[in-house]
Parts: sequence; structure tokens; C-alpha cells
Amino acid sequence: MASIGKSIETASDFLKKGQLVAIPTETVYGLAANALDTTAVAGVFEAKNRPVFDPLIIHTYSVLKAHDYVKSIPEPLLKLANAFWPGPLTLLLEKKELVPDLVTSGLDRVAIRVPNHALTLELLKSIDFPLAAPSANPFGYVSPTTPEHVNKQLGDKVAYILDGGPCEVGIESTIVGIEENEVCVYRLGGLALEEIEKIVGKVNLKINSSSNPAAPGQLKSHYAPMKQLILGNVKENLKLYKNAAVIYFGEKDFDNVGAEYNLSPTKNLKEAAANLFFALRMMDESIADVILCELLPEEGLGRAINDRLKRASVK
Ligand code: TXA
Ligand code: MG
Repeated sequence: MASIGKSIETASDFLKKGQLVAIPTETVYGLAANALDTTAVAGVFEAKNRPVFDPLIIHTYSVLKAHDYVKSIPEPLLKLANAFWPGPLTLLLEKKELVPDLVTSGLDRVAIRVPNHALTLELLKSIDFPLAAPSANPFGYVSPTTPEHVNKQLGDKVAYILDGGPCEVGIESTIVGIEENEVCVYRLGGLALEEIEKIVGKVNLKINSSSNPAAPGQLKSHYAPMKQLILGNVKENLKLYKNAAVIYFGEKDFDNVGAEYNLSPTKNLKEAAANLFFALRMMDESIADVILCELLPEEGLGRAINDRLKRASVK
């Protein structure tokens, strides 16, 4: 098990030595390493058991600083950065030479974002390199939203876990890029599509490219619990699966089951997003055989929640 604490100094010391540190962000915990040190970055892939064709997001502390790592920020994306950074938005931008190919899996674009978490922003300002950080979970499994989640799964692989409490957004960042002057969204996430479209107009949704190496996080099966997650009408499915755990949203319309979790009693999508991965973990640890859930309204953060549920339900 790793040591957990709130010391920026300890975290930055380990990172400077090329070691791995789990960092809090507003979305999920990240498994961080010096993005400019290929050996350290290789350690991230190894710890996560992540295929090297799946590139990493780099984290920095400001729009201005991002220019150190990318050639330019096209106008519409700059508008988004100015509007939403720090926040759950990742931009795909032409990388500068100093960003190692290992970080981008050989692609010309690097994924970059400014996370909205006070501790991590302070940490980023205390070091002179950006942090490459994928979600701090074993490849394919549910992302961690608390230090304890990280410790349970990767505790023996990280030098330190920087404790920033539970993640407020709870779902990964929205990934956005531009192709031939058209703004494209590659992963739905903590920043709702509607918010993005308010700034740049209609976007092109390119989220279902499971075989597209430009967006491997969009693999069909991802974010998956160990137990089978079955989507569809819970009441009907409970007739088929007697020993089921249920994740639901709003009012309850089924009889008591062994384990259940309400994502948001008041049907608040933000709250549901923040609870999603926690709920999946809890139900996964229950004694039920399967997990049942229904899709949420396909609007705002509901879209990203549904995207995660669908991928989590594929084995
Ligand atoms: O909220 C988040 O984005 C969290 C926190 C820690 O920042 N990070 C995260 O990282 O979700 P990860 O590695 O679990 O997911 C990153 C996604 C992957 O699907 C990856 O394929 C995609 O970003 N990605 C990274 N670099 C890319 C690139 N150069 N081109 C296309 N997709 C890229
Ligand atoms: Mg991930």
C-alpha cells in the first residue's frame, strides 16, 4: 500500500525522481509521471497494464503554460480553453518536439488539460514539467474517485497518493479537437456538450470509433466492473436475475434487493456523475451476481454517464 497524504513537497520530490504519484483532479484520480521523462512515462503504462497504443493526457496549470508543449491553439479551441480551464476539458493539439512520442503513442497531437483542483494546480506550479496522467485504475476497469480506490488497486505501484478528497465531477474530461475547421468531440465527459456548443456552435461527435487509434479510450469495453452490468428496464430484469444489485436514478420503482444505489434521489445529473464510479464499485463489491441499471436522460452530463454505462456493460 502507498502512503497517502496532502504534502505537495513529498509529491513533487517523488515526481522529480521519476516516480509515480497519484494526483487528485476534479474528474478522477490520475496516475502521474513527469511527461518529459520517457522512463517515468513507461512506468505509467506498466503500472496500469495499459497498451502503449493508448496515449496519455498531459496536465499543466494554465493556458499560457500549455503553449510550451503545443505548436498552436486554433481559435475555437482557444476559446474553449479560456472558457473552461481549469476544468474537465481536454484538448488535442499539435505537439511540440519536446513531448515524447511515447506520451502520444506516436500521434502528432497531444492531449492536454488544466485540471481544476487546488492541490494539483499547486503541485503543477511547483515542478518544471507537465504531468502525464491517465486515470489511476488498471486498464479497462472503473476509474478511481477517492484516494482509497487508488490504494486498493494500484497501491503497490505508486510512491505516494496525494489526497485531495473525493472527486467533485466524478467522470473523466471531455476530449475535444479540430479537424478541417470543424470542432470534434472524441470522448463525452465532465463538460457537457451543450456547454461546448454555446461557445463554438455545433460540434461533430466522433465518439464511437472503437477501432480508431486516435481515440483508444473509446474502446467498446472500458470502465467495466468485474460483475456483469446489464442495462435495461430494471423491473423486468429483476424477474430474470434474482440476485441482482441495482443502480438507479430518482424514484425507486422496484422491490427491495440485496444491494442498491441511488445515483441521485433528486434526479440531478451532476450528482449522478459524481456518484457513478463509486456506485459501480460498491455494487461490484456486493454479494449480488449481476448489476442492473437503466440509462439516464440523454442530455447534459447524462450523455457521458450513459456512454460510461454502455462501455461498462460490454464484456
Ligand atoms: O479526466 C481525465 O481526463 C482524467 C484525469 C486524470 O485527467 N484522465 C483520463 O486519462 O481519463 P485516460 O488515460 O484514462 O484517458 C485518456 C483518453 C484516452 O482515451 C486516450 O486514448 C485519449 O485520452 N487520448 C490521449 N491522448 C490522445 C491523443 N494524442 N489523441 C487522441 N486521443 C488521445
Ligand atoms: Mg481511463
